[in-house]
Amino acid sequence: MPERERDERFHLNLEDIKDYAVFRVDTEGRIASWNPGAERMKGYTAEEAIGQPFAMLFTQEERQEGKPEEEMRLAAEKGVYEREVVRVRKGGELFDAHVILRPLADQEGVHRGFIKVTRDITERKRVEAELRDRAEFEQQLIGIVSHDLRTPLSAITLGAVLLLRSKDLSLRHVSSVSRILSSAERAQRLIASLLDFTQARMGGGFALQHAPLDLHELVDLVMEEVRLSHPERELQVEHVGDGQGEWDADRIAQLLTNLVNNALYHGLEDAPVRVRVQGEPESVALSVHNQGKPIPAAVMPQLFAPMKRGEGARRTGQAGSIGLGLYIVQQIARAHGGTVSVDSSQERGTTFTAHLPRHPPRPR
Ligand SMILES: Nc1ncnc2c1ncn2[C@@H]1O[C@H](COP(=O)(O)OP(=O)(O)OP(=O)(O)O)[C@@H](O)[C@H]1O
Ligand SMILES: [Mg+2]
Repeated sequence: MPERERDERFHLNLEDIKDYAVFRVDTEGRIASWNPGAERMKGYTAEEAIGQPFAMLFTQEERQEGKPEEEMRLAAEKGVYEREVVRVRKGGELFDAHVILRPLADQEGVHRGFIKVTRDITERKRVEAELRDRAEFEQQLIGIVSHDLRTPLSAITLGAVLLLRSKDLSLRHVSSVSRILSSAERAQRLIASLLDFTQARMGGGFALQHAPLDLHELVDLVMEEVRLSHPERELQVEHVGDGQGEWDADRIAQLLTNLVNNALYHGLEDAPVRVRVQGEPESVALSVHNQGKPIPAAVMPQLFAPMKRGEGARRTGQAGSIGLGLYIVQQIARAHGGTVSVDSSQERGTTFTAHLPRHPPRPR
């Protein structure tokens, strides 16, 4: 096919492409063809553009840095140059663009310049920024609301405790005030979870207070508290090996409480919950086991994601549960340089195990 005819065909095809600037650049870096998409995007007509150096489409800074020549060199070397960049329209307005530059060769394989395809991605960038802003705003909102809700809730809790202590409360009133107290406490726990969540999300993790402690002792302490609130349930604790190390006691207590509460709520009611503390050479493994329906395989990949709850969770009627428990468990383990894993099947039941290194990870 004669070159001229080929050029016309090429031209015809490019006429149809409106959202992309598609044009040829000769070996000297001058614009050799110009489609309507290019005219629309860049603001130059074909007459104005053809014959001009394609460097005029770059920002002044990039021209000074020699970017137009570099693009051509890299495209020729690698066969393609592709990047997200800032480009400039005829009036001087800047816009975000995705550019691809490919070398063109004729039938004999002789280098004939380049074909350049530019897409205006201003809109995409705007949407991305908007989504980012919104996510940040939502997290801030959760943080502020949950923080400020703590004050009135503490007042409610304190009031309820004082009322319960007074001698002249009738039996009927005692039970209402107890309900007020337990609801307020549940709300406080929920808010604490939300705060942990926003902290982990925004700050990229928890700040920990490491101190030397014995995990065996800490686990016994936590399990005493759990026993008080669940006198009807059988809880077994097994201690193996050395439990010495440096951890954040409150956070480890929170991790264990979350796992044990899950085992109590999501596991079989009339089977025991077993906690095991096992000293390993470099770490201590903390595992919590329960019988009951296994966690479905389909749920597993999302298990530690925030706000994800299994379908069984609603049935248990666990008010004030939002599906943050395991997310927080994982964040606490990670902050300690550790991991959490899960094993769940019909025969073996469900076991969550946290491996906690004995010493804090080195700050990055
Ligand atoms: N020991 C377990 N046995 C069976 N299923 C479990 C167990 N632990 C967690 N799950 C499943 O994983 C889901 C997520 O647990 P997670 O602790 O994150 O949320 P939650 O318990 O529903 O709510 P929250 O802990 O925020 O009150 C649960 O809803 C439940 O379906
Ligand atoms: Mg939970």
